[in-house]
Amino acid sequence: MRNIVILNGAGISAESGLGTFRDQDGLWTKYDLEEVATPQGFARNPTLVQGFYNARRANCRGASPNAAHTALARLETEHPGEILVVTQNIDDLHERAGSRAVWHMHGEILRALCAACGHRWDAPDEMAPDDPCPACGAASTRPDVVWFGEVPYLMEEICYRLTQADLFVSIGTSGNVYPAAGFVELARGAGAATLELNLEPSDTASAFAETRQGKASQLVPDWVAGLLARAD
Ligand code: APR
Repeated sequence: MRNIVILNGAGISAESGLGTFRDQDGLWTKYDLEEVATPQGFARNPTLVQGFYNARRANCRGASPNAAHTALARLETEHPGEILVVTQNIDDLHERAGSRAVWHMHGEILRALCAACGHRWDAPDEMAPDDPCPACGAASTRPDVVWFGEVPYLMEEICYRLTQADLFVSIGTSGNVYPAAGFVELARGAGAATLELNLEPSDTASAFAETRQGKASQLVPDWVAGLLARAD
């Protein structure tokens, strides 16, 4: 199991106090995703959308990594092969736990993007629709997050890495949103072993060779400890 690709979603950050999307009390039970997480919603009401992400940025800054994030950082340090974390999460909890190989396919809440020139920079705590881009001056700034209807980041590179994986692990994601929900099929088709770690069986659970149910803060450290013990 030298080459491991790990996909994760909101479930890995749930115990850090950051809400999930589709569980009871999830963000999409309180907000209309069409209004706050689409380019059309942003065009209609940029103040509402910036406010939504300003609140999420504040939550992110106030949260701390949990035992699942820490275990994945340990895995990256101690595993003799390659570890890549592909996250759908826009928080920075993996980085703060010490992981370095982290690809944010849905962007990062702590970064800002200019829709006019493509420049990216560290987002201030509060973004507003008329903020000028520090590079070109256009008032076209937005959070550097991928909205519904937009293409996730790094797709070509991620798909390549999935085809090279010996093991694909999915943690804390409902398997509801493509293209991430299709990663298990791609990795399995290319010969990878597959494992799901989730509170409950996800929508794509049947595609995995093995599934384990429970909280990420327990399942992930246990899985990492078992894997590292076998590598000795
Ligand atoms: N440990 C493990 N899994 C958990 C935990 C936990 N403590 N708490 C919740 N879960 C599981 C839930 O059972 C659910 O299957 O995490 C999953 C979270 O699913 P979603 O809320 O759908 O979040 P996610 O899969 O990350 O959503 C994908 O949709 O709207 C978007 O862009 C957003 O990146 C996000 C994408």
